[in-house]
Amino acid sequence: MYLDNAATSFPRPECVHVAVAQAMRSMSSAGRAAHSVASAASAVLQQCRTAAARLLHAPAASHIVFTGNCTEGLNTVLLGLLQPGDHVLASTLDHNSVLRPLEFLTAQRGVHRHLVSFDPVTGLLDQDEFQRTLQRFPVRLTVLNHASNVTGRLQEVAWLTATAQQHGSLVLLDAAQTAGHVECHMEQLGVDFLATSGHKGLAGPQGTGLLCFRPESQSLVQPLKFGGTGTFSESLQQPLTCPEKFESGTQNVPGIAGLLAAVQLTLSESPASRHAHLIELTRCLLNGLRDIPAVRLLTPNIPEQLCGIVSFVIDGMDSSDVAMVLDQTFDIQCRAGLHCAPLAHETLGTLASGGAVRFSPGPWSTLDDMQTAIEAIDAIAREFH
Ligand SMILES: Cc1ncc(COP(=O)(O)O)c(C=O)c1O
Repeated sequence: MYLDNAATSFPRPECVHVAVAQAMRSMSSAGRAAHSVASAASAVLQQCRTAAARLLHAPAASHIVFTGNCTEGLNTVLLGLLQPGDHVLASTLDHNSVLRPLEFLTAQRGVHRHLVSFDPVTGLLDQDEFQRTLQRFPVRLTVLNHASNVTGRLQEVAWLTATAQQHGSLVLLDAAQTAGHVECHMEQLGVDFLATSGHKGLAGPQGTGLLCFRPESQSLVQPLKFGGTGTFSESLQQPLTCPEKFESGTQNVPGIAGLLAAVQLTLSESPASRHAHLIELTRCLLNGLRDIPAVRLLTPNIPEQLCGIVSFVIDGMDSSDVAMVLDQTFDIQCRAGLHCAPLAHETLGTLASGGAVRFSPGPWSTLDDMQTAIEAIDAIAREFH
């Protein structure tokens, strides 16, 4: 039983397998030639941009850029925007794909980083500290975590974005844990940039991701990569317009074909109904796990405000030992450890227990699966205590 969808969705829907195989068999590379096998590839990229813009309510399909993963999208904005002396606001909830580029920018480029803390009980950012930081410093960019990959808690992004923008800051949303699992409405949230993975909530192939720009914000960001785009080839300068500006080199056509199938399936099922299903599953997990005396939940008991993640520790046990027993004895696959979010675990007080055990069901998990997982944790906790 696979409960590690927050890392990568598995199994992927059949339509994704079919689309990847079909692209491998029948398409060459997009944007490089006018012949039919190249045109088919270009059409897939165009359709995927359009479908992704619909799903994420992005301002313009032409301003959706394909990336290799969410990390690449986040790095593109962080490294392409922030200059020496700039101030950036992020938080201790953030993933290393935000924290590590910021560490680099602080050490190598003289960028000033401010990390706002969060409340370990509610999982929410400290709004007073957030506002104080914006009042004290001329923050160029605010990075928001839509939902934590450790606690699963959704942040109040619309309020945080409006507040940051009132202080003149641009906003980058890390939607790695929400796109596909939760209604993710870029226009309503008002963010300037949104980065996400193709292989998590969207259930597409690895090696895919999306970076969405508000059209007026793209000119502020320098590309990470320069090279062939198949357009404006007479010029030695990188194109200045989206998406070519950020898409140098041959694109991952089979991956994007798979992502298109995954996005179309998500649209047909609707993120709202997927979220409703995940809420039901997380409610079941929270109710069952909280009755086990040795279990300490890190996820707040508000299923509607979660993205389908439940994390916990068993008193006295190392989290990776729990995950190993779950895999080897109960055939349940989940993720233990620090989940690439060391500062979140520091705040939650889980560094000594080797981080936490994280259950992340997916759209095709069932209530029976949740019951089986709860019984497995009950058995492990009883055996140990
Ligand atoms: C909150 C968050 N941000 C960013 C990432 C990085 O995503 P990717 O592995 O697609 O680069 C992850 C992956 O787990 C994540 O959970």
